[in-house]
Amino acid sequence: MNLLDLDRRADELRELLRRHSHNYYVLDAPSIPDAEYDRLFQELEAIEATHPELRTADSPTQRVIGGVLDGFVAVRHAVPMLSIRTETDTEARGAIAFDARVRRELGLAETDPPVEYAVELKFDGLAMNLRYEAGVLVQAATRGDGETGEDVTQNIRTIGEIPRRLRGEALPAVLEVRGEVYIRRDDFEALNERQRALIAQGAKNEKTFVNPRNAAAGAVRQLDPAIAARRPLSFFAYGLGEVQGWGIDNSALPPTHSALLDALAAMGLPVCTERAVVQGADGLVGFHAAVGAKRDALPFDIDGVVYKVNDRALQQRLGFVTREPRWAVAHKYPAQEQMTKLLGIEIQVGRTGKLTPVAKLEPVFVGGTTVSNATLHNEDEVRRKDVRVGDTVIVRRAGDVIPQVVGVVHDTAMAPDAVERGEPFDLYRRLGGACPVCGSPIAREEGEVDWRCTGGITCPAQRKEAILHFAGRRAMDIEGLGDKLVDQLVDAGLIRTLPELYTLGLAKLCALDRMGDKSAANLLAGLEASKRTTLARFLFALGIRHIGETTAKDLARHFGSLDRIVEATEAQLLEVNDVGPVVAHSVRSFFDQPHHREIVEQLRAVGIVWEETEGTASAAPETSGTEGVTGQTFVLTGTLPTLTRDAAKELIEAAGGKVTGSVSKKTNYVVAGSEAGSKLDKANELGVTVLDEAALKALLAPAPDPEPPVA
Ligand code: IVH
Repeated sequence: MNLLDLDRRADELRELLRRHSHNYYVLDAPSIPDAEYDRLFQELEAIEATHPELRTADSPTQRVIGGVLDGFVAVRHAVPMLSIRTETDTEARGAIAFDARVRRELGLAETDPPVEYAVELKFDGLAMNLRYEAGVLVQAATRGDGETGEDVTQNIRTIGEIPRRLRGEALPAVLEVRGEVYIRRDDFEALNERQRALIAQGAKNEKTFVNPRNAAAGAVRQLDPAIAARRPLSFFAYGLGEVQGWGIDNSALPPTHSALLDALAAMGLPVCTERAVVQGADGLVGFHAAVGAKRDALPFDIDGVVYKVNDRALQQRLGFVTREPRWAVAHKYPAQEQMTKLLGIEIQVGRTGKLTPVAKLEPVFVGGTTVSNATLHNEDEVRRKDVRVGDTVIVRRAGDVIPQVVGVVHDTAMAPDAVERGEPFDLYRRLGGACPVCGSPIAREEGEVDWRCTGGITCPAQRKEAILHFAGRRAMDIEGLGDKLVDQLVDAGLIRTLPELYTLGLAKLCALDRMGDKSAANLLAGLEASKRTTLARFLFALGIRHIGETTAKDLARHFGSLDRIVEATEAQLLEVNDVGPVVAHSVRSFFDQPHHREIVEQLRAVGIVWEETEGTASAAPETSGTEGVTGQTFVLTGTLPTLTRDAAKELIEAAGGKVTGSVSKKTNYVVAGSEAGSKLDKANELGVTVLDEAALKALLAPAPDPEPPVA
């Protein structure tokens, strides 16, 4: 590039950096990943270094960027809040270069002993100045532009970890503690989960957060402390601002950085324990590598480590250049956020039929691995972020969390080739209403964020879960069929549909890895034994959405036969005790699908049997059941506190019991209210159990209905 081009590029870079840092620092809404910002910054630094005449006084390289948000009171920092030089060479070289610079500045010879460093983590949050006067927290301020920050005392007071009063005696008259406000990863996930739920409930002004740092920055700069209080903020102290009266003329100030941090911890301030004192470049390299190895396992995000010359007298000798101390440096790790291009959106079917939009990306190295797929969570998220095929997006991979697309880079200067944007995302239209794996209809119920495949047992994606549910103890109770075996059977292609379970032979089973003759024989015996079942168990085993154990029993009792259930209209289903529109609709749409009927037929064909009855719907109560109060007889007497006699009768019958008029030895229960007469006497005489209304209700109350795991 000639000088004119360089000048133009430098201008362009300054403009870009200004805009992005405004978005980042003032609006808490970063528009590009940090790594990208660093690249632009370095490009500008390089131009200005080789051509000092192109440097401008207001260049972002010459000052700390930031600002005060309207609505906050500005605080002038007694001691400027500077930032530190960032070593972006993520390899060991970064550490070696810093040590070499320090040695040179101190005029050390090669034969001199190694420099001692205090090494710590570079927390990814936002810088905070906490001012304590006589041990009492009087003010908290953000960094702002380094000279002037924002007074956020009210919000910071909501952070439980930050002491309002320091521990110890002879506390300094003024002690400004500097550190980082951040959000732990688990707290962040929980926060976003909560936000998603609020949004799903229709909350208008809520959003999910891009990353923990962003959520922390947003919370600290909330004008309403009540909102800040609901955000799970944490804090680590890492340095000092103004200090007065720490001993006479600050003579009691600890002589090293590490001792200073110990002293702050002793005063009750949170100081990260993940720190050390090391010697020379080798020590730095070792710490960088050790922390790098456990970065993913840390409970919070870091973007690097920080090296500080430990001896505070040496720090003073080294001093500052423009915006940075010469005695400290941040040494980065590979970024956890990067930009890349969205090539397409695929829809994945999960184990429970949940349909998740997944971003297909131009492969990008982020968080230590090459990522080409990232989750987009659900349709609403895609729409809210307005993510479209062809966009340049920000991908994040931190810790063990699956990679995700956190946002779109709308800046045309940053994403110059995002010429044609795809259509707004519409999951239903994209799939033509059918599951991409099995072709069954997809559905999204009111109040839910996820679309689901209704294929259930027929959808290969849901197969394992469906089989496990089918085999479960409260369903078909197939002994010997656990999750490991189901994995094996499905992965080996031996089982595609539920009926195929019953066609397994000894030969096929024994061919499986780690399958002995004995376990194979046990499984076959378990399968055989499961064939004699009840209609309720069979219904439950099918894994129809919303049909738990109790509802399955209600349906079985009411209709008495499977055919009558398969043919029942929604209106007829609604007549069943405790069946509402959601359940009725779910049953109807399940049996409306021909492949579900086919499976049911095949299961009957392999020999699954149960006893059928007339059903209570046809007014002839069954008497053979043994579960709950089925077939048991009740006699009502006296006046119950809330139930009319008819209402009580209905409840009992709905639960499968019978109500008769006179007490005999065959009577199971007498339900007695006030002014009960001879019937109660008779019951006592015969030793029949007597219930009051509360006891009756408790007896009839269905056990809580667990949700079956498949659609
Ligand atoms: S020391 C004069 N130590 O990184 C030295 N900073 O540019 C002042 N940060 O936004 C900074 N962890 O908030 C220091 N252990 C640590 C840090 C740390 C995170 C942040 C700091 C600032 C940036 C430094």
